[in-house]
Amino acid sequence: MTRENILQFPAGFLWGTATSPTQVEGHIENEWTHFTAQDGSNCRIACDHYHRYPEDIQWISKLGINAYRFGIEWSRLQSAPFAALNQNELARYVDILDRLQRAGITPMVVLHHFSNPPWINAMGGWTNTAAIPAFVDFVGRLVPALKDRVYLWNTFNEPDTYACLAYLLGGFPPQLKWKLGLFRKVIDHMAHAHAQASRIIRREGNAGREPEVGIAKNWTFFHAYKTYSPWDRATAFACHYTFNKYVLDAFLGLGRRQASTFIGLNYYGRVRFHHFRAMIPASGTPVKRLKDFGFVCDDMVERYSAGMEKILPYLHRKFRLPIYITEHGAASEDEKFRERDLREYLTALHGAMAGGVDVRGFFYWSLLDNFEWQFGYAKKFGLLAVDFADEKLPRTIKPLAEVYSKICRTNSFQTGESVRLK
Ligand code: BGC
Repeated sequence: MTRENILQFPAGFLWGTATSPTQVEGHIENEWTHFTAQDGSNCRIACDHYHRYPEDIQWISKLGINAYRFGIEWSRLQSAPFAALNQNELARYVDILDRLQRAGITPMVVLHHFSNPPWINAMGGWTNTAAIPAFVDFVGRLVPALKDRVYLWNTFNEPDTYACLAYLLGGFPPQLKWKLGLFRKVIDHMAHAHAQASRIIRREGNAGREPEVGIAKNWTFFHAYKTYSPWDRATAFACHYTFNKYVLDAFLGLGRRQASTFIGLNYYGRVRFHHFRAMIPASGTPVKRLKDFGFVCDDMVERYSAGMEKILPYLHRKFRLPIYITEHGAASEDEKFRERDLREYLTALHGAMAGGVDVRGFFYWSLLDNFEWQFGYAKKFGLLAVDFADEKLPRTIKPLAEVYSKICRTNSFQTGESVRLK
């Protein structure tokens, strides 16, 4: 093996993994508690990370992963607008942070990941401007309590996905469809809240270093399957405009640019349209049928690692901010496929970095097989498998975790081991 085959990452690069409260914790009272997923399941217990976090942190440590992106569930901490924080629940999150610190794992804390306290939902969620001061109040209480332990703050996870699925496609509660006005309101309100929360974090935060704050933007490429089809091109453009351009402008445009010190990028791949249909497994077309069209997909979307080398330089040129890949992962029972996918995306990431893009970390989605929102437990994104049929919810290591562990430990990987996706 020659040196050219080894892709080395810069010293201090964060190799992380990620979860979100509703998907792993269980025992939560939010809008997902009574939601029934397409497979008939619910998230009432999920992975029981609420009780098993010590074991899960040990796994992260055993794998040599040096960063963990996880959420703090707002509904656990405030029982009413402007209420004091629940000290027992706060103590649990502090314990998570202390355990991470002892294990040498850098935390990135997410403040909003697709869920709200019931009293926010009762007032119309983020369609109501009153959600802004309520969230800012929550942040204003939480940040001083955690600032000695956290320097990386992620205010909103994928506001685009959240507003789209809740108000345009009906996949997330409150399951409304084609309410474009509400979609825009939610994005605008969250963008306001982000700017205010960011001010608090930058004023308060001092975990031994400058606080860093940003959102996690999902970036999906939208293309027409047949490039000569004007209708599919128009559909792709409308999606790009609404989910990428509008959202980036709201959070990072003009005066808002200063509200972030970094950009979090969740990048999975692309969606191509054929006769107005989104050709992805998440919209119901089976992976095997998509293969006949020449599409390589995991159980969710089309793989498009080349997109990493497009979107990263674009964001870098446009905003001149450091970037964290706050999520990438693949859902499949085929571990060889997931390994090839990871290598393809990391090769593209390395290429973009070699071209001058300042990327500071990569967080694999996800630590655990978990509750994948409207799809329930069928999508296997985990580095660790969770046996949901066993009430003890045992975790077992998957082959991909061994591969990822080696990458994290060596801060590099050998391209020679990679096979192109077919
Ligand atoms: C979300 C996660 C989700 C993942 C896989 C991201 O959009 O932040 O919550 O599980 O994608 O679909």
